[in-house]
Amino acid sequence: MRIGSDEHKELFCRAFMDAHLPYEPKDLPWPELDPRSLEILRAVPVWNMALQVEVNAGAMLDTFAKSQPDPLIREALALQGYEEARHGRMLEELSSRYGLGAQKEPPSLAPTRQAFVTFGYNECLDSFFGFGVFKIARDVKFVPDALTSVFARVLVEEANHIVFFVNWISYERARRGFTSPWLQAVPTTIGYIRALRKTMGRAGQTNTADKGLTAVGDIFSGLTLQSFLQACLSENDRYMAAFDPRLLRPRVIPALARFVLGVAHFGASLGLGQARKDDVARS
Ligand SMILES: [Fe+2]
Ligand SMILES: [Fe+2]
Repeated sequence: MRIGSDEHKELFCRAFMDAHLPYEPKDLPWPELDPRSLEILRAVPVWNMALQVEVNAGAMLDTFAKSQPDPLIREALALQGYEEARHGRMLEELSSRYGLGAQKEPPSLAPTRQAFVTFGYNECLDSFFGFGVFKIARDVKFVPDALTSVFARVLVEEANHIVFFVNWISYERARRGFTSPWLQAVPTTIGYIRALRKTMGRAGQTNTADKGLTAVGDIFSGLTLQSFLQACLSENDRYMAAFDPRLLRPRVIPALARFVLGVAHFGASLGLGQARKDDVARS
């Protein structure tokens, strides 16, 4: 299958739309939470920001979709807009049930191609780390399984979104004549640098002064950079394995994570080798 062909477009649009799950957040089996879980959840400082990202994305995609001339792409983008708006409703439901106090502003993202591209790269970045955070949160029982199970569907949807996005952008660029890997690599690199700047900007705005965060920090205290990246990578591989092998997958962030892990292992093995030499010299 040629990237940029009609066959490619049919495949990535249909695969995305066929994976759509019908549900409404208020109808999901939200569990009662014990006081400790409530305290931990209320200490997480991202609810306002996360809600606003979904609200902005839903509105941006809904309008951007309408501007698309291709009916299949228009339909798929509109569906993603619906799912992002529903993620917003998930967070509103979570917030109102457990008293998290998340507030939303009116949507403020211009419905342009550039906004969707920046959002798409951001999703690739955020989902990769989100997969790992979710896995670790589940393993350490950050909150009861009954609640992580409710949110598992959001992670599956984000995996669908990023696979749709990387195929859509490669299709678009191929249609405009940017078929060689180098012509795709430059805008991809720019896209990820923008995404990284945006994610770091968001992190800087997050209020981490809440003392309840100590409880959150304690739960994750045994975590190293390596074990975190390993969790992100293995979860990313697991989600990506579910897609048709002909579809493209996000590659840049997993490749960077593998590189960092490789360097860390190499450094650790050098340190181990030096420690052995020191032992021999001392004996
Ligand atoms: Fe979302
Ligand atoms: Fe998404």
